[in-house]
Amino acid sequence: SAAFLFILSACGTSKTNGDGEKKTLRVVTDAAYAPLEYQDKGEIVGFDIDFIKAVAKEAGYKIKVEHVGWDPIFVEIKGKTADAAISSITIDSKRQQTYDFSIPYFLSKNEILVPKGSSIKSTKDLEGKKIAVQNGTTGQEVVEKLFGENNDKLKKFENNNLAILELKKGGVDAVVADNTVIETYVKNNPNDNLDFIEDDATFNKEFYGILLPKGSKLKAELDKAVNKVLDNGTYEKLYEKWFKT
Ligand code: ARG
Repeated sequence: SAAFLFILSACGTSKTNGDGEKKTLRVVTDAAYAPLEYQDKGEIVGFDIDFIKAVAKEAGYKIKVEHVGWDPIFVEIKGKTADAAISSITIDSKRQQTYDFSIPYFLSKNEILVPKGSSIKSTKDLEGKKIAVQNGTTGQEVVEKLFGENNDKLKKFENNNLAILELKKGGVDAVVADNTVIETYVKNNPNDNLDFIEDDATFNKEFYGILLPKGSKLKAELDKAVNKVLDNGTYEKLYEKWFKT
């Protein structure tokens, strides 16, 4: 009966607009960070993309993921022109002053990408070397902490693929970026003869979160959904799909 359907929809988790349809969340990303988020034949794919789709579904939302680039993510979330961003974004106290984050969903660390046979074996060997990073990342932050903010050897790029390209062209000696991305690149591009260097003494543990506008009402709903996805086997399945092949 109509009354039954009304009660059912009132009790369900579906978020409806005025027409009784699920609201569609606008989610922005920088799809140049494989295998977390990247473009494959014009389609935005990756672990993060599957993950946010599962979380949105769990929370009763439809979503539309849009590639806007790294810096614009922060402009959009600050201006609330997007509902959320997923882009391997590290939860850090500086960002938390301006934004909210979901609970953490992924462990990460910075790492160094070098040509095979490079003399660079740890972060201290980066001293005096030319380093490429993606502008506005924790990779940039850690290099500046080590070697100073007005370091003219530090080249900043709009996205991480451009930083790697600069390394391949010989314009820099190393790239600093997230371990999963660097290790996937090394594995998938054996002909580039690149290697990855870990340095647990210098690079801290980082956790990714979904970026949200400060005070977003979505946070409670998404946190609940993230917990579900982490617990009900979905996360494991996605992890297997993207990282165990
Ligand atoms: N985890 C690092 C940070 O939050 C780098 C993330 C870069 N993400 C990307 N999609 N390019 O600063």
